[in-house]
Amino acid sequence: MTVLIKGGTVVNADQTLRADVLCQDGLIAAVGEGLDAPKGAAIVDAGGQYVMPGGIDPHTHMQLPFMGTVASEDFETGTAAGLAGGTTMIIDFVIPGPQQDIMEAYHQWREWAEKSVSDYTFHVAITWWDDSVHEAMGTLVREHGVNSFKHFMAYKGAIMADDEILVNSFSRAIELGAIVTVHAENGELVFRLQQELFDRGITGPEGHPLSRPPQCEGEAANRAIRIAEVLGVPLYIVHNSCQQSLEAITRARNEGQRVFGEVLAGHLLIDDSVYRHEDFEVAAAHVMSPPFRSAEHQAALWRGLQSGNLQTTATDHCCFCADQKAMGRDDFRRIPNGTGGVENRMEVLWHHGVSTGRLTMNEFVAVTSSNAAQIFNVYPRKGSISVGADADIVVWDPEATKTISAKTHFQKVDYNIFEGMTVKGCSSHTLSQGKVVYADGKLDVERGAGRYVHRPPFAAYYDALKIQAKRNEPTPVKR
Ligand code: URP
Ligand code: ZN
Ligand code: ZN
Repeated sequence: MTVLIKGGTVVNADQTLRADVLCQDGLIAAVGEGLDAPKGAAIVDAGGQYVMPGGIDPHTHMQLPFMGTVASEDFETGTAAGLAGGTTMIIDFVIPGPQQDIMEAYHQWREWAEKSVSDYTFHVAITWWDDSVHEAMGTLVREHGVNSFKHFMAYKGAIMADDEILVNSFSRAIELGAIVTVHAENGELVFRLQQELFDRGITGPEGHPLSRPPQCEGEAANRAIRIAEVLGVPLYIVHNSCQQSLEAITRARNEGQRVFGEVLAGHLLIDDSVYRHEDFEVAAAHVMSPPFRSAEHQAALWRGLQSGNLQTTATDHCCFCADQKAMGRDDFRRIPNGTGGVENRMEVLWHHGVSTGRLTMNEFVAVTSSNAAQIFNVYPRKGSISVGADADIVVWDPEATKTISAKTHFQKVDYNIFEGMTVKGCSSHTLSQGKVVYADGKLDVERGAGRYVHRPPFAAYYDALKIQAKRNEPTPVKR
């Protein structure tokens, strides 16, 4: 299929230029002014619009089995919803249960994801440790294109990784040239606070943020950072929600450490008053971890994004409907943790980021696409409008407005955390592998058209680290 995107302004992370974009056989074949349309090419009129790399959401959980239920959004509906909002690739998570064979879990997730309508790839969580896990990490990196391993420092009694697991897994990752990622919350403290609150009669969703104060997050972020520093492995901290974790990241980066930080659209835009809503369903719909925070934390997160100390934006798209959230009606600890957003991330960030002057258009592209592509080593195949890149493209109409609602969204969940928010600027056309899959409010997707994307290990980082390690090699004292 050949598509010519004509008359638009191309916005990459590093430059803005007036250019047409020719897509052929799934790739970008030419970028330049006044391109002729080959015979039979479809034309997308991008006059007055921006042509940007499709979004990459580096943190989603489609059909995740979690807290006694399964996330309502599956890989087909979730990737379709993403395309409607301009997101053309997700990075989801393989999360093995305690003691579950890692390769078995990996193949299970690959099977679930086969119905995806856009490209996707996986981080793999390390939830327990023995020699077979050590071995599986090698197999995943060498044979399956996995270059990132995730560690949940919370969810005690389920998937929590303690320090021993972190040290083992981080050490193995460095041998393999992989990056490590963490969900930073002190799971022991959260467990203790949950119990205390519940015993004091705080059983509703208002107990959720009280049991997960920012200090728990800051402590865990700092602990992961210092472990990564000692072992010399690059670290990516997912869903930073508060000043404390941002400060830990900023400090480490200033010290020269390779630490990256992600922020969720929800944490930037929603505050913790939602947990005190009188309607259980509304409050429970917002239960996710780490929780939404107060306005001061939100302001800090925007500053983190603007300063470059936070590099990526995600959603942690993990949807549960009201009947699932009701599992925790009498006990906030049993409300399945998770909220949606894969469809809305780009538009809410444009509206509240670019239109307010907090981000330039180029910075918007960086934080919604290119930085994730670089950090997870798929750049410039993804995250770039350039010849040879995958033709995953969003044509962005800066004048279009819409009001976000669960009644009209494509996401397979009965609530939208951005309900009622009117945004100016959204996707008019989304292209996946050079095919127009979303135009003028309608999806035209094919079940299974999405491909699993291999991500090679990080030779460059690791060569540098080896040189540094050699330089710092201690010499034994001769006595
Ligand atoms: O509440 C959340 N975030 N649910 C999904 C699992 C995780 O912690 O990322
Ligand atoms: Zn998490
Ligand atoms: Zn998550």
